[in-house]
Amino acid sequence: MLDIKNLTKVYGKSDVKALDNVTLKLNEGEIFGFLGPNGAGKTTMIKVLTGILPFNEGSVEICGADIKRNPKAAKMNIGYVPDSHIIFDKLSGREYVDFMADIYGVGVEERKARAEKLLASFSLTEDFDRPIKDYSHGMKQKISIIGALIHNPKLWVLDEPMTGLDPQSAFELKELMRKHCDGGNTVFFSTHVLDAAEKICDRIGIIVKGRLVMAGSMDEIREASKDGSLEEFFLSVAATPSSEMAAAKTEQGGTAKE
Ligand SMILES: Nc1ncnc2c1ncn2[C@@H]1O[C@H](COP(=O)(O)OP(=O)(O)OP(=O)(O)O)[C@@H](O)[C@H]1O
Ligand SMILES: [Mg+2]
Repeated sequence: MLDIKNLTKVYGKSDVKALDNVTLKLNEGEIFGFLGPNGAGKTTMIKVLTGILPFNEGSVEICGADIKRNPKAAKMNIGYVPDSHIIFDKLSGREYVDFMADIYGVGVEERKARAEKLLASFSLTEDFDRPIKDYSHGMKQKISIIGALIHNPKLWVLDEPMTGLDPQSAFELKELMRKHCDGGNTVFFSTHVLDAAEKICDRIGIIVKGRLVMAGSMDEIREASKDGSLEEFFLSVAATPSSEMAAAKTEQGGTAKE
């Protein structure tokens, strides 16, 4: 369903590889969590695989369509929620969702039924006709999610989607992700929220300095982790020096790691 082969991306004339020979395959019906420290390459990967950014080497296929050779067919299968809300401020929520539905050729009845359900699950029904510029951060995040799901995409890609959502909405989002996969689709999302990743992901990938250092099932990670937690595993793989970790924990008011 998503097939990434030997993907390498360099920004401009930089001598750093933002993505370094990444190979990854995602199956139908799975939730894949993409983790990594700040600046590791998560957003770059997401922008490359959604066809927003060009890349230097390798290939990306979505449902058999190559993102470079057949971008329109590949993109028709993607729903994308960016990490910042570059959505059309002048439109109301309804106009934005209609615009997205028009782009993807979703019929009037179908978009209405889908939007109604999504609005209700995010308690956004009453705000649907308000201008997006008057929305709060979390409300913008929700309308962006609804816009991305209006064509029921085979591959739903989200960049740090939990940021700014209240606990109820974060819960609803996790439920939506699971439902989406249960319908035979695939979810790829980046996050720093390890608890959420641990609870909902079927598989996890960890990227460090542009390299995919591991990709495995939650069961494999629990087995490999010293204390059975994703946090311990992530910290060991992402290789934060222990002195920095201890300092950070002490700053947060916790106890330094022994
Ligand atoms: N537009 C850009 N021009 C040049 N370099 C960039 C650009 N965007 C990102 N980079 C570089 O690419 C690398 C990966 O950045 P990216 O934004 O993909 O990280 P990330 O994993 O999403 O980090 P975060 O957790 O902070 O969101 C970093 O070294 C960053 O400096
Ligand atoms: Mg990012």
